Amino acid sequence: MRAVRRSVALCLGVIGVACCFRGHVDSGVGPDIPAIAEYFSTKGRYEEVNPYLIGDILAVNKSVLRAPAAECRATHLTAVIRHGTRFPTSKNVRKMRQFYSLVLHKASEKESWVREMKYRWTMWYTDDMDGRLVQKGVSDHRHLAVRLSKLFPSLVSEEKLRAGSIKFITSSKHRCVNSTLAFKRGLTELWAVEEEVDHEVNDALMRFFDHCTRFVEEVDKNQSATAELERFKSGPEMTRVKEKIADRLSLQYSLITEDMAEAAFYLCAYEFAIKTVNSPWCQLFDEVDAQVMEYASDLKHFWKRGYGHDINSKSSCILFQDVFSRLDRAAEQSRAGLPVTEAVTIQVGHAETLLPLLTLLGFFKDDAPLTSTNFAAQSDRSFRTSHMLPYAANLLLVLFHCGEDGLRLQPLLNEKPLSFPGLPDHQGSAPLYSAVRQRYHDLLHNCDFETECQLFTHPTVMKG
Ligand SMILES: *[C@@H]1O[C@H](CO)[C@@H](O)[C@H](O)[C@H]1NC(C)=O
Ligand SMILES: *[C@@H]1O[C@H](CO)[C@@H](O)[C@H](O)[C@H]1NC(C)=O
Ligand SMILES: *[C@@H]1O[C@H](CO)[C@@H](O)[C@H](O)[C@H]1NC(C)=O
Repeated sequence: MRAVRRSVALCLGVIGVACCFRGHVDSGVGPDIPAIAEYFSTKGRYEEVNPYLIGDILAVNKSVLRAPAAECRATHLTAVIRHGTRFPTSKNVRKMRQFYSLVLHKASEKESWVREMKYRWTMWYTDDMDGRLVQKGVSDHRHLAVRLSKLFPSLVSEEKLRAGSIKFITSSKHRCVNSTLAFKRGLTELWAVEEEVDHEVNDALMRFFDHCTRFVEEVDKNQSATAELERFKSGPEMTRVKEKIADRLSLQYSLITEDMAEAAFYLCAYEFAIKTVNSPWCQLFDEVDAQVMEYASDLKHFWKRGYGHDINSKSSCILFQDVFSRLDRAAEQSRAGLPVTEAVTIQVGHAETLLPLLTLLGFFKDDAPLTSTNFAAQSDRSFRTSHMLPYAANLLLVLFHCGEDGLRLQPLLNEKPLSFPGLPDHQGSAPLYSAVRQRYHDLLHNCDFETECQLFTHPTVMKG
């Protein structure tokens, strides 16, 4: 009932603008949600990975905590969170403007949605928006803060906030600082806390990728590091997507470059993420096209931040050690029956912060690497940035103290439970913290940021 009323209200609200395209009403996802919304990769809305939030943005699913046993208490929470929804970067705004201009001047008007693009839609993105957090991004973090206070009432609590045992660390980028402020405001408003809550800006931790010379030289600045992406862009799947876009607009194939296809996809994704609008740009892609676009983005992330090169994940050693040293301290205090001095750590960064850390921990690793030629074979891959890294994506590590039974650690991504790879869940509950430390024994002892990130003397050379 509720969902139906909401769709009708939305339809009336934006009637004649960008709503109610026949194709999408039929798809059953509702007229305000593009049929391809689940393929937007890192430009995707958080609600797509947790659809129950569409009905109630403050809903939490307590069963995800799989409370290891009745006697377990949560004693520490570390959350590594990506900033919320943001504007496109100026580079992408320029690509979008070019594509818009092409459509405006050259596209055939036989379809009503093309007339929509030309005469009702205006190019409202400007260069100065450059990656800034949008209002929706503020809400992403405010709402996440409230949900975490509901999921972990003994940790994300008024008492702990007032006592200063909730610590905030952020990347210096405006979108991250503003996300942090929004998260804090979510809590201070909830409990009417008037006092200032501090946060620390720490790029060494939250933007480690900028400071890892070996990563910068061997991957970030190195075109050959993403050769598979370039091959995929000129391969048969992407060629077909470009041709279909050209056909839909009655344009010559040569006019639709890879950048143009990407810009078209961004226009659909950003209009939806920022304004919750199912814009006419979404008509340029069917589901298979969107899967191809998503795969291109996954390829980029795989080779630039994920399993593609070892240094991608090793660059996050500094954050990995930081997280585990905090867990160790909380574990020690819990075992000694002392209050945990830092009950909660909220760390706000980027998709580029989260992905190397998830990779270092071994999550979402498929048997075969993502390459330019295995799009079809990888259709069931677990490495899907649309699921892993939407706006406000978050890795939560929850330490439980379970009486006699010891300490347990539950990982969650985007408020859904994960299992540490190679560590079977103990009867569906979180593994012992000691087992987790054992699982990552090598990294705990050998993952050193300075050593890994040196350009010419990486560890294998030094050991030899
Ligand atoms: C809640 O979480 C449980 C455990 O992960 C899952 O099985 C269930 O589908 C979730 N419920 C909703 C509404 O997402
Ligand atoms: C951050 O928030 C401030 C004040 O709310 C605003 O003036 C500024 O433009 C925001 N910056 C970004 C990058 O979002
Ligand atoms: C660039 O990447 C390729 C492929 O990974 C690698 O073989 C090469 O050594 C890299 N170049 C530099 C300068 O690191």
